[in-house]
Amino acid sequence: MQVSILIENTVGRPLDLLGEHGLSLWVRTPEHQFLYDTGQSGALVHNAVVLGVSLREAEAVVLSHGHYDHTGGLRAALKAIGRAVPVLAHPDLFSDHRVSEPDRFVGIPFSRTELEACGAEFQWTAEPLEIFQGVWASGTVPKTNAFERGDARMYVLEEDRRVPDPLRDDLSLYLDTPGGLVILTGCAHAGVVNITEHARAVTGRERIRAIIGGTHLAPVEADHLEKTIAYLKGLDLELLAACHCTGLPVAARLAAEFGRRFSFGSTGLTFTF
Ligand SMILES: [Fe+2]
Ligand SMILES: [Fe+2]
Repeated sequence: MQVSILIENTVGRPLDLLGEHGLSLWVRTPEHQFLYDTGQSGALVHNAVVLGVSLREAEAVVLSHGHYDHTGGLRAALKAIGRAVPVLAHPDLFSDHRVSEPDRFVGIPFSRTELEACGAEFQWTAEPLEIFQGVWASGTVPKTNAFERGDARMYVLEEDRRVPDPLRDDLSLYLDTPGGLVILTGCAHAGVVNITEHARAVTGRERIRAIIGGTHLAPVEADHLEKTIAYLKGLDLELLAACHCTGLPVAARLAAEFGRRFSFGSTGLTFTF
């Protein structure tokens, strides 16, 4: 299997690539290829051309959650795919996601009708689902530990009252490879430890080879960060490509902790398993 980073906050290769706050991954299995997230602006279409990725051959688009920095490129991606294509997401994708600093709407910036007019054939799953052979979509990730409490700045409105955003739509991918699982996360709003334990429970595989994607460790408290690092060290990962909402200070710490097994996971990188 291969995972290429089409969009990330930074550009890591000396190529004509665009970086933006967001994430988009291109996944190739022995038989299938598909898009996981679409970045913020549609710049993934340009980057795909530069990297030799043919979006026309996407057999599906999987969305990690409704946040604009993962779904804002969806309309452009659908146009580049150029035909009807399954778009798999959690049923809460269109949830009215908001954030308080600065106060704004951060959900998906398109209507369902508009996206369907561009070829999106929505398929919903709140349960784990094997979408291709060896590729599992998480569905809702159970929050099983006490320290991954989510981002207090994120909220939804319930009858004009602000309540914490449960972000149930946070959907990760679990790739079953011969040497163990490769976990792909969008922002890991459900918590990277919760997600990893869920991956094991869903697939029945114990060994985790790699974690690639956002970890949302940038805003967490010290205790949360230390517990997460201790857990990740216990996994004996081949690769930790913690990028996007990991934030540079935490990514730098992880680089120091994990040495050559760490990657900043920037735009243009490809990992082969
Ligand atoms: Fe994000
Ligand atoms: Fe997010």
